[in-house]
Amino acid sequence: MPRSMAAPVWELGMEPVVYQVTGRHQELVDTVTLQMTPVDGPAMSFLPGQFTMMGLPGIGEIPVSISGSPNDGGPLTQTIRAVGKVSAAIAGLGVGDRLLMRGPFGEPWPVEEAVGRHLLIIAGGLGLAPVRPIVYWALANRGRLAGVELLYGARGPDYIPYGAQLLGWLASDRMTGSLIVDRHSDEWAGPVGPVTELIGRHATVDPAKTVAMVCGPEIMMRFVIQALEARGFADSDIWVSMERNMKCALGWCGHCQLGPVFVCRDGPVFRVDHVRNLMTQSEL
Ligand SMILES: Cc1cc2nc3c(=O)[nH]c(=O)nc-3n(C[C@H](O)[C@H](O)[C@H](O)COP(=O)(O)OP(=O)(O)OC[C@H]3O[C@@H](n4cnc5c(N)ncnc54)[C@H](O)[C@@H]3O)c2cc1C
Ligand code: FES
Repeated sequence: MPRSMAAPVWELGMEPVVYQVTGRHQELVDTVTLQMTPVDGPAMSFLPGQFTMMGLPGIGEIPVSISGSPNDGGPLTQTIRAVGKVSAAIAGLGVGDRLLMRGPFGEPWPVEEAVGRHLLIIAGGLGLAPVRPIVYWALANRGRLAGVELLYGARGPDYIPYGAQLLGWLASDRMTGSLIVDRHSDEWAGPVGPVTELIGRHATVDPAKTVAMVCGPEIMMRFVIQALEARGFADSDIWVSMERNMKCALGWCGHCQLGPVFVCRDGPVFRVDHVRNLMTQSEL
């Protein structure tokens, strides 16, 4: 039975809950991370890769991934880049301000697929936000995984969110990984180029024993998929998170429809062999 027919709407997240901003961190010039708790009751629990609809009355509502830890039951953490009317208004909220929240929505990253195998996480730009909960999960479940590797590409050194935390993770002996930036700059001594360059250099794992989870701009994900396939990865071991405009997030309105799938309900996380033909299609 479709999920939308299985339960009354208030159980499905149609009814917004009032949240209050309890913490705000300016990640990048146009990007903030907000911590939020409901005005009444506990914060929602969620799985890595899920998103919420964040709304401001009279302004609008947008889908935003949950970027915090799924393990600690703490405030809901989300990272928002101001690109337009609604995202700019939400990014402009301060501690004590209120907003409306629906969710969580969407199919999560299939993290249990990585148990007993290597987990290769590849992100570009703000695609780091939806994969950050995978890293939290992987570190909490490190003993069940053969290895954890994070490859991350950003436009430049000033465009790397969660900078100190990211460097701490990569310096630890619990995971491996590398950062790369698109352009040379005086403050950057690391590698320069597209994130696909790192796949050849750093992904030392056996593709047959690895699950890859990829998030970033769609063009970047297409090149990453090609590079992984060239290294011998099967499409069935590569997962991506896709973005489309959304309104209901419940599989009702068709705003996010991509061929036969609704990104809000069937995704946003998809196995590549299930969406290979759809990934070249823009908004319908
Ligand atoms: C499942 C999902 C998860 C998402 N997670 C995050 C997240 O963690 N953090 C975050 O900041 N954003 C995230 N987004 C994107 C976010 O929803 C959009 O940036 C937002 O809807 C833009 O709305 P707006 O009214 O601010 O801008 P609009 O007025 O709708 O658009 C302003 C400009 O931004 C461009 N734009 C619109 N949507 C996007 C987009 N998705 N990506 C890039 N440019 C866009 C438009 O083409 C336009 O040029 C996610 C989207 C989806 C579907
Ligand atoms: S946003 Fe309405 S069907 Fe997906």
